[in-house]
Amino acid sequence: PRNIFFSRHGESQYNVEGKIGGDSYLSPQGEKYAEALPKLVQDAVGDAPLTVWTSTLKRTAQTAAGLPYPKLAWKSLDELDAGVCDAMTYEEIEKYYPEDYASRDEDKFNYRYRGGESYRDVVVRLEPVIMELERQENILIIGHQAILRCLYAYFHGLAQEDLPYIKIPLHTVIQLTPKAYGCDEKRFQLPI
Ligand code: F6P
Repeated sequence: PRNIFFSRHGESQYNVEGKIGGDSYLSPQGEKYAEALPKLVQDAVGDAPLTVWTSTLKRTAQTAAGLPYPKLAWKSLDELDAGVCDAMTYEEIEKYYPEDYASRDEDKFNYRYRGGESYRDVVVRLEPVIMELERQENILIIGHQAILRCLYAYFHGLAQEDLPYIKIPLHTVIQLTPKAYGCDEKRFQLPI
């Protein structure tokens, strides 16, 4: 059976600083994950053919760099656009945009950042990616937290209001095996 693999990019410099969005490079820990990833993927995939999809942001390309498979970069896989809040910490958002911070807390799925996107917007822009995913064999997506939450919710049929809170940890490969109804799941974690 075919498999879909998800991984967030390795820890980025912005992850370390607690800033959202941006286009930073990996942190030293993130680089270690990128170095360890080829063996982890090889153990999971074996000799089966695999294609790697990334976003157009540096941290996903850097995470995928050592993987010996064909690669495709999708703009539609870029992280949720936080608009004016891009590059801020959550503390800064709460301080400078307290009303936005509160409305996001009230309805995280529908809240749209000023000049940016909501989770609902991301679900819409992922439609072509999902259609293509449904047609493909083994795919590994090196993605971002909000994006992988949307894809994960799609394959597991999870509710919209729960979607923005799904835990997609760093430095973990999630393997989904679609079945007639739903998906089997395995997780491979690296102690990094
Ligand atoms: O902090 C990493 C990150 O990928 C940000 O770039 C993004 O805005 C955020 O996670 C999405 O998570 P949440 O919707 O919980 O803020």
